[in-house]
Amino acid sequence: MRKQIAAANWKMNLTLQQAETLIDELVKIPHDVNENQLAIFGVPFPYLTAIQTKLAGKKNVFVAAQNCYNKKSGAYTGEVSAEMLKSIGIGYVILGHSERREYFNESNSMLAEKVNICLETGLVPIFCCGEPLTIREAGTQNSFVEAQLKESLFHLTAEQLTGFIIAYEPIWAIGTGKTATSEQAQEIQSYIRSVFAGQYGNDVADSISILYGGSVKAANAKEIFGKPDVDGGLVGGASLVASEFAAIINSLK
Ligand code: PGA
Repeated sequence: MRKQIAAANWKMNLTLQQAETLIDELVKIPHDVNENQLAIFGVPFPYLTAIQTKLAGKKNVFVAAQNCYNKKSGAYTGEVSAEMLKSIGIGYVILGHSERREYFNESNSMLAEKVNICLETGLVPIFCCGEPLTIREAGTQNSFVEAQLKESLFHLTAEQLTGFIIAYEPIWAIGTGKTATSEQAQEIQSYIRSVFAGQYGNDVADSISILYGGSVKAANAKEIFGKPDVDGGLVGGASLVASEFAAIINSLK
């Protein structure tokens, strides 16, 4: 059975002190992460170890990096490699967030390299995809997202994609307060699953957790996560508020 996942994406927010306070507040609020669920905190690089230490011993709760570089090591001043993350005990990495695609020119082929390095290193990618507003208005979002997935992931084996994590995030819904309706999320996420099924078969497709991201909050999480092809969420703004993110975790199937 595929995992249901609440993943926080703090982006470039919070000081270390604010981040630690947020975790302290969150652990005080009852929230249940059962065997078939994961809570993952995507935190800025400098806080990875501190937040990991704070969450140590919590079952089914993990810390993720928000990016890593597409080269293994070497003269790339300022970059962070998959191996570095692995060496400090990090297990997950958000890859291909639309902000990285837009502001840092991350292409589908560069993301394929990042995915490869993460898998070789033993890190689990949380692979983001999603269309801009112009594509949604033109009604071509399915083929747009399909191309992102094909160009970055379809060189992988069925084994590598078993249990993979995808985050579908329509760009027009990120940080805008404008959430896709649960029907819109279900429609495209079921399409995404069918794309994997077509290439890799139903067993692989059914094992992939497909998260929805874009203005998820406590008030809408239950409805969105209730859809059959929505296996949780990647949450930006609302993950910076302890009560919101606890409620979002509690909204997982
Ligand atoms: P948002 O961000 O929840 O603030 O819309 C989601 C994301 O960018 O991952």
